[in-house]
Amino acid sequence: NRRITVRDITVAKERGEKWPMLTAYDAMTASVFDEAGIPVLLVGDSMGNVHLGYETTVPVTMDEMTMLSAAVVRGTKRALIVGDLPFGSYQEGPTQALRNAMRLVKDAGVGAVKLEGGERSHRQIELIVESGIPVMAHVGLTPQSVNTMGYRVQGRGEEAAQQLLRDAKAVQDAGAFAVVLELVPAVLAAEVTRTLHIPTVGIGAGVETDAQVLVATDMLGLTGGRMPRFVKQYAELRSVIGDAARTFADEVVGGVFPAEEHSVH
Ligand code: KIV
Ligand code: NA
Repeated sequence: NRRITVRDITVAKERGEKWPMLTAYDAMTASVFDEAGIPVLLVGDSMGNVHLGYETTVPVTMDEMTMLSAAVVRGTKRALIVGDLPFGSYQEGPTQALRNAMRLVKDAGVGAVKLEGGERSHRQIELIVESGIPVMAHVGLTPQSVNTMGYRVQGRGEEAAQQLLRDAKAVQDAGAFAVVLELVPAVLAAEVTRTLHIPTVGIGAGVETDAQVLVATDMLGLTGGRMPRFVKQYAELRSVIGDAARTFADEVVGGVFPAEEHSVH
């Protein structure tokens, strides 16, 4: 009857246990995932695309992250809640990073924060962790850098692979408790996973990472449009919701809803 901690996550790797992570952006969905036993929920800045209708994660603000992170914390009892630091909230340096990480912890109640970048973010990770806030790192494809790197597979070729390994080691050395590997070749993700003592959380990174994360609306079949190859859809919520809305509309227009039983006398 307590929250999962980063310590539990560390122990899982020592035991060779794999674990799932999903994104969550609201109290209701988060409570469903919590009851389903998902141990780690990420309030990802993917909320920018998914819930706020932005084209990228670049415009997401600290106010938005704080508000939705607080909702996810309120909706859950057991999961470790990780809040993403949005673009622009940690790039200026360690002091800015700590200030904003502190805000997600104190105002929203998250148990850990996540930020993008390997070597380039190691000073930020170090100061946040030193201050008592666990950090999940994120290397490989880092969507906040869309304007410089685009959305391409990372770590292809010997030089890029070496850089990715250096990035992964840098975040581990800086004190990160886990690291997301996004869209990197499976063989390389496996090598990083064997090399690090902290858990790797894969998304489009093959079968050998310690954990797997998916954007919840993607795996629920709610997002719509073309899905990347690494997404598996476990439900078809978009058509379920669409059918319900159409049936409701038809019944209202046709005078079928409300019926006598829905009326108060
Ligand atoms: O924002 C997000 O959803 C993420 C995951 C894809 C790791 O960062
Ligand atoms: Na993110």
